[in-house]
Amino acid sequence: MNVLGIDIGGSGIKGAPVDTETGELLEERLRVATPEPSAPDAVAEVVASIVTHFDWNGPVGVTFPGVVANGVVKTAANVDRGWIGVDAAGLFGGATVLNDADAAGLAEARFGHGKGRRGTVLVLTFGTGIGSALFTDGVLVPNTELGHLQFHGKDAEHRASARAREEHDLSWEEWAERVEAYLRYVEMLFSPSLIVIGGGVSRKAHKFLPHIHLDTPLEPAALENQAGIIGAAHAAAEHARTDGRG
Ligand code: BGC
Repeated sequence: MNVLGIDIGGSGIKGAPVDTETGELLEERLRVATPEPSAPDAVAEVVASIVTHFDWNGPVGVTFPGVVANGVVKTAANVDRGWIGVDAAGLFGGATVLNDADAAGLAEARFGHGKGRRGTVLVLTFGTGIGSALFTDGVLVPNTELGHLQFHGKDAEHRASARAREEHDLSWEEWAERVEAYLRYVEMLFSPSLIVIGGGVSRKAHKFLPHIHLDTPLEPAALENQAGIIGAAHAAAEHARTDGRG
């Protein structure tokens, strides 16, 4: 099925049509800067402009950087607080809406390193915040929010996100030390069989992964930062299929 995937991030909103059988982007992706403030109406306008750009009439999947349950936004740590309580699925014209890290995780589980993996797999995205997607035998446990684990008296994402590296002017090695400590904590809690590191930083994995030592195998995301778009499209395709059955 061909589905338009749109990934809403703290700095950019990216979209492209996706072949959900292969996980391939069908056209070059379009990126628009996230409006400031990132209030619901302003973001909805950008989402609508991406739909128009691709002249799209088919199903649409959209990611959101917060907890999303049944299309309704429950938290907004890194975007405008006005999102809390908004029916995002309705606002985006009936699109399937899900958490950004869950979407990235679904894409990795279907087309990337998590493919065919049984047991507990964690996909952690490092960007403006830290996002998490937890899988058990390939099934997603949605909205896990492991970026907000309390660590050194703070939300972990305030110490170890990619934004924290930039804001605190940390070298890759210094940042890797923080990421390793966080990952050890997560490892202790979940005993995963694989941890996949996603988000924009996954493209620069060679700069920090060699400094991180864990007992759990650690892989950079295979889909780099296209994973959100692909996962959003994949979720919408699944949604369309289940609706068809019901
Ligand atoms: C949000 C998560 C999101 C993550 C990455 C966190 O601050 O609470 O829902 O997945 O950032 O964007």
